[in-house]
Amino acid sequence: MRRPWVAGNWKMNGSQAQAQTLLGELSELRELSEIDVCLVPPAPYWLQINDAVKGSSLRVLAQTVSEYDSGAYTGELSSAMLKDCGVSGALVGHSERRQFYAENDYVVAAKFKALRQAGLSPVLCVGETLAEREAGETLSVVSRQLLAVLESQGPEALANAVLAYEPVWAIGTGLTASPIQAQAVHASLRAVVAAFDADCAAALRIVYGGSVKASNAQGLFAMPDIDGALVGGASLQATEFLAICRAAQQAL
Ligand code: PGA
Repeated sequence: MRRPWVAGNWKMNGSQAQAQTLLGELSELRELSEIDVCLVPPAPYWLQINDAVKGSSLRVLAQTVSEYDSGAYTGELSSAMLKDCGVSGALVGHSERRQFYAENDYVVAAKFKALRQAGLSPVLCVGETLAEREAGETLSVVSRQLLAVLESQGPEALANAVLAYEPVWAIGTGLTASPIQAQAVHASLRAVVAAFDADCAAALRIVYGGSVKASNAQGLFAMPDIDGALVGGASLQATEFLAICRAAQQAL
């Protein structure tokens, strides 16, 4: 049985005051001991949030990370800096990074590697655009994105990682992949990993992202290969995020 995993990606939203309020409203999360819950705030709030969640099982993740260790890369943050601030890992390959910051599979794999080398957990995001889905390319696109890491770093690289399937057409649009649509992709992704290492595939948590909310979480979590959620918009509303986390715990 894979331990459910839920993360709230705040994207470029929030303030110190909002973070404080949200953390207060999310205090019930401390009682959900059978799932892993991560908060993914903007970097300026890492320390504040880490301080507030100390002693609980809640973890802080970064939204991205540099593929480089240190040096003249203005504006970038290294894995070592994340670690120094108590951050447990980072998203890599989020579709907004791929789309707006031109991060290709090669760069995403390099970021994944940088996190592993620092002993941090990567969350590899994969997903197809609407045009790719309509062209019947969903599986080839998500497989290619996953293989960029698997072929260069081996299946053991996934040991400490989470894989997030996030169809680009479902992110922030209110459109969600149906549980059956998502399950089909999750099962295919697991099969891609299983071709390298069956045990690694069986243990890998594959979570869904794309307009996950309280009202659709339960249906998604009922699917055998959906092990949790990467939540965007709904993670900024405490009642929604709590309900999603509770649904994950109930799906155990
Ligand atoms: P959304 O975002 O839940 O607002 O669709 C998901 C994500 O981008 O991780």
